[in-house]
Amino acid sequence: MKTISFFDTKPYDKVYFDAYKAKYHIDIIYHETKLNKGSAILAKNSQGVCAFVNDTLDRETLETLCESGIEIVAMRCAGYNNVDLKFAKGKIHIVRVPAYSPHAVAEATMGMLLTLNRKFHRAYNRTREYNFSINGLNGFDLYGKTIGVVGTGQIGRIFIKICKGFGMNILAYDPYPAQDADFQYVDFNELCEKSDIISLHCPLTKESHYIINQKSIEKMKQGVYIINTSRGALIDSDDLLENIKSGKIGGAALDVYEEESDFFFEDLSNTIVHDDVLSRLISMPNVLVTSHQAFFTNEAIENIAKTTLGNFQEFFDVGTLTNEVCYK
Ligand code: NAI
Repeated sequence: MKTISFFDTKPYDKVYFDAYKAKYHIDIIYHETKLNKGSAILAKNSQGVCAFVNDTLDRETLETLCESGIEIVAMRCAGYNNVDLKFAKGKIHIVRVPAYSPHAVAEATMGMLLTLNRKFHRAYNRTREYNFSINGLNGFDLYGKTIGVVGTGQIGRIFIKICKGFGMNILAYDPYPAQDADFQYVDFNELCEKSDIISLHCPLTKESHYIINQKSIEKMKQGVYIINTSRGALIDSDDLLENIKSGKIGGAALDVYEEESDFFFEDLSNTIVHDDVLSRLISMPNVLVTSHQAFFTNEAIENIAKTTLGNFQEFFDVGTLTNEVCYK
């Protein structure tokens, strides 16, 4: 039995990891704190580390883990933009869960688009107060509108299928287009110019950082909707806010935010949030913010637990790493 240190633990993580850990011969020490250079020492007596989207796996954190003899970090997520892969190379193995439920994220994306457009969140609040007025709750038909999908991997392609079901026109941008695509690829500029709605489904990389910024927003249609269920720093939040204030952007649905690690997944309802951009965005009637929950279905969490524990077992028992993330 090997022991792993599990960081940024939430009650729902324990439910699924506890249910399956014995089957994979893994024991787990749960830490509520996020993993960073200060907390990395907590992994000292473990053989592996499990981390999540808002943990900080920078050089100093990885150095401390290496000094403690940790040879493997399993990310219990698909993205790994928070890991210094360049430093990790050759020193510590990084594995991930490449796919746990692309349907969960794609379905949530459509849910957010529908909510933003038809204002269900506002309608719900009104009727709870017996306010049955529908003034200001009008949206537009999705049927016949053009949606620009940035990134046509697993999630993007399922989302495209869902949009086709609504009778929408699809424009897609991906530097590595799928060969078997049954939708139209265009370059990013054309996607910006022609889309009524833009939805982001690409990873956060050097190239995609701030892909939505003042320059790209200027090319977009007046009143465009932006949907982001990918990673916060795909959008320059200051530029987004200014363009929502001016009316150029007609609405935004954000499941992720570039500074989310200080806030998301925590109950801060009794504190003052010192992020004026986030506060202002949340205050807008045409902005919907959720707390990185697009992945959050029972199926997804169960798959995350099984794949993560399987990644550890494979490494400890066989020495192979099917889901290793490599620095290129
Ligand atoms: P994937 O790896 O299957 O697809 C990503 C696609 O983006 C690939 O086709 C790739 O060629 C493309 N791409 C790479 N760089 C690009 C660029 N600069 N511009 C446009 N496209 C680019 O990944 P998957 O599973 O579809 O996930 C997409 C993203 O969704 C993840 O990277 C992650 O950030 C996010 N995600 C968010 C979750 C949430 O709960 N909100 C949960 C899971 C993933």
